[in-house]
Amino acid sequence: SATQRNATGADGCLFHGAGEPSMAPNGCPVSPQAAAFDPFDRPYQLDPAEALRWSREQEPVFYSPKLGYWVVSRYDDIKAIFRDNLTFSPSIALEKITPASDEALAVLKRYDYGMNRTLVNEDEPAHMARRRELLEAFSPEALEAHAPMVRRLVREKLDAIIDRGQADLVAEMFWEVPLTVALHFLGVPEEDMEQLRRFSVAHTLNTWGRPSPEQQVEVAEGVGKFWQYSGEVLRKMQARPEGHGWMYDMIEKNRHKPDVVTDNYLHSMMMAIIVAAHETTALATANAFRQLLSRPAVWAELCDNPALIPAAAEECLRHAGSVVAWRRIATREVEVGGVTIPEGGKILMVTASGNHDPAHFENPDELDIYRDNAVDHLTFGYGSHQCMGKNLGRMEMRIFLEEFTRRLPHLELEEQEFTFLPNTSFRGPEALWVRWDPAQNPERRDPAVRSAQRDFPVGAPSRQDIAREMVVAKVQTAAEGVLQIALEDPHGRRVPEWSPGSHVDLIVGNYVRKYSLCGEVDDPYWLQVAVLREEAGRGGSAWIHEHLKPGMPLRLRGPKNHFRLDESADRYVLIAGGIGITPIIAMADRLKRLGKPFELHYAGRSRASMAFIERLERDHGETLRLYPKAEGVRLDLASLLAEPRAGTLLYACGPERLLAALEAGTNHWPEGSLRVEHFTAEGALLDPKHEHAFEVELTDSELVVEVAADRTLLQALRAAGVDVPSDCEEGLCGSCQVEVVDGDIDHRDKVLTAAERAGQDRLMSCCSRAKSKRLKLAL
Ligand code: HEM
Ligand code: FES
Repeated sequence: SATQRNATGADGCLFHGAGEPSMAPNGCPVSPQAAAFDPFDRPYQLDPAEALRWSREQEPVFYSPKLGYWVVSRYDDIKAIFRDNLTFSPSIALEKITPASDEALAVLKRYDYGMNRTLVNEDEPAHMARRRELLEAFSPEALEAHAPMVRRLVREKLDAIIDRGQADLVAEMFWEVPLTVALHFLGVPEEDMEQLRRFSVAHTLNTWGRPSPEQQVEVAEGVGKFWQYSGEVLRKMQARPEGHGWMYDMIEKNRHKPDVVTDNYLHSMMMAIIVAAHETTALATANAFRQLLSRPAVWAELCDNPALIPAAAEECLRHAGSVVAWRRIATREVEVGGVTIPEGGKILMVTASGNHDPAHFENPDELDIYRDNAVDHLTFGYGSHQCMGKNLGRMEMRIFLEEFTRRLPHLELEEQEFTFLPNTSFRGPEALWVRWDPAQNPERRDPAVRSAQRDFPVGAPSRQDIAREMVVAKVQTAAEGVLQIALEDPHGRRVPEWSPGSHVDLIVGNYVRKYSLCGEVDDPYWLQVAVLREEAGRGGSAWIHEHLKPGMPLRLRGPKNHFRLDESADRYVLIAGGIGITPIIAMADRLKRLGKPFELHYAGRSRASMAFIERLERDHGETLRLYPKAEGVRLDLASLLAEPRAGTLLYACGPERLLAALEAGTNHWPEGSLRVEHFTAEGALLDPKHEHAFEVELTDSELVVEVAADRTLLQALRAAGVDVPSDCEEGLCGSCQVEVVDGDIDHRDKVLTAAERAGQDRLMSCCSRAKSKRLKLAL
């Protein structure tokens, strides 16, 4: 039943009081909210994710009688549908969501309209055979070659308005540049741009809109002309086969493999791809500028630190994507999120809603340009049909942002009412008015600003660049060999919020290391870490000890938390060894505030080498036990752990030796009682001399990827265009986890428990490998 998660009333009726309940095709009654849902109403048009919040929370799969579709709103359910393109066929992806009137059909017939299969709505096995033939144009090298053209187009448009002080960016450039880029990429002559733009709007309304009966005829005229125009352009191009571009690749394949790249495909694709490659990117760019400019502090951060631009563009694609819903049809009766969808059931996956699902994205409604799993968004779809042009779209958005943040950092959003073309799937403002003071344009003072461009590599954002610029506020000695460092925002803004157990990655030259935050959790202006000088280390800590001074800039990633305090236990034992006290201190503060009973055990070489003793004695005197080895006081783990205690969680941080002893000593405790944080990952780094190459078969994208002996699985996946989030890249954090369908795994991480490893159903792609020659992954 579509509503089985809801409680049934005393009379057995799920929705009594709702009048005559409507029925879904499977006989289930439809809830009032589901019955009222209409994607052409204002709430969905203004903010589809918000309009479906009720569904995400209460009824994640429901039948919409007004639409005749099953609507799916949660991340995991949507991804599961994208994954299985046999059960959930994409054949209706470009079908008219509002059936055409007879008059409209007559108009289309007059134009001999025959739009049929392209890629996005083609079933297997035809689809993959075709897609594989046409992949080359999207390789990083091939795309890189288009960057100068994109840059030139954006510059020309910006030059034209830079002294004006006010503009509607949509009208001035956001649609025209992506359209020009698309035509160039395709090899289509750049003519009749205005007309093509009108054609695209007609196509969007025709496919995803609800035109009124009068509009139907007008829209059909536009679509019919677009169809004819596409045919003419195609014939012209076929007559000149020496041209370059993706359409020429198709024409060439059509000549040699007409059964794979068919004639009708060519004509249909010619029309569909112009829209796919242009409208999507134009709207995504407009959405991104709107999101960023309406948060001036975030915009300022991008202007100060342009390395963040790829991450910001990605987060905007998640937060306010240009494609907000996509379609599939069930080829058999199937269950989705506990609801049975009948064979032939049409499905609308509201990807914008999945992108705001708190089960997958922390604080999903916040625009957080430092988010480390933004690439998991569903705006490009997922699986074997995932957008082929995603890296071209990303490139365009990044170049727009880079040019504007550098040349017009003082750009502001005008007060305005936003309007949207009414449709289910493509979303972005029809105009975006901005203003600025041309007298403040940086290039008037320094002409070099105009050309000082920064380029970004093709592909998903690199985690290396997602760094915050901070300034050292204070440096003081916390113990022998331990420096306590307070960091603040360079502009005096509040620092990001964090929770006990969080750390930051400090970036010092090529050296990156995790340091737990050890200040007060609610300190709004300082992030504090304690750095132990490690003589045997890679030199970063020594540099920090010798050179770090107040006022110096310092880059960091985070805060992030891979050592989260589960606040639901009855009692806690906190154990710290040496500098491992840093995350533990914040946990002790938090437990005290919650009023939860806990013990705090802190071992070290000598009192003089143990940081924060005074503060701990002051704040946690009753619970603190100190074990300075120099005084002959030893932490007796055997007796501490002898009796397993139900309802008690142990949190520990310290040297690997201590953690290993704890792991061994808690074998007889309930599974999951011990939570530890590792700070180093010996053995996780790659030594090609001792590795073998292997293959991974990706079941969702239907690809086979080679992993050479000198590459990590994560690197190989990225090179094949598969975006997997990552963070630590040394097996410590868990963010690069992928599901394993089959094969023997050589686990190298420090994240999975013994029981999870034994399950052989997941691995950390940044470090783990195959024991044998092949693994099968659900990617
Ligand atoms: C497919 C979105 C830019 C070419 C798709 C799909 C979505 C999408 C949602 C369907 C995915 C699925 O069924 O899993 C976007 C967005 C873009 C963008 C949001 C910009 C921000 C582009 C560009 C191009 C392009 C610039 C071309 C150069 C394609 C193609 C497919 C596709 C060829 C069909 C792939 C297949 O079915 O195998 N896109 N797209 N897209 N897109 Fe994009
Ligand atoms: Fe952290 Fe792989 S990226 S475990």
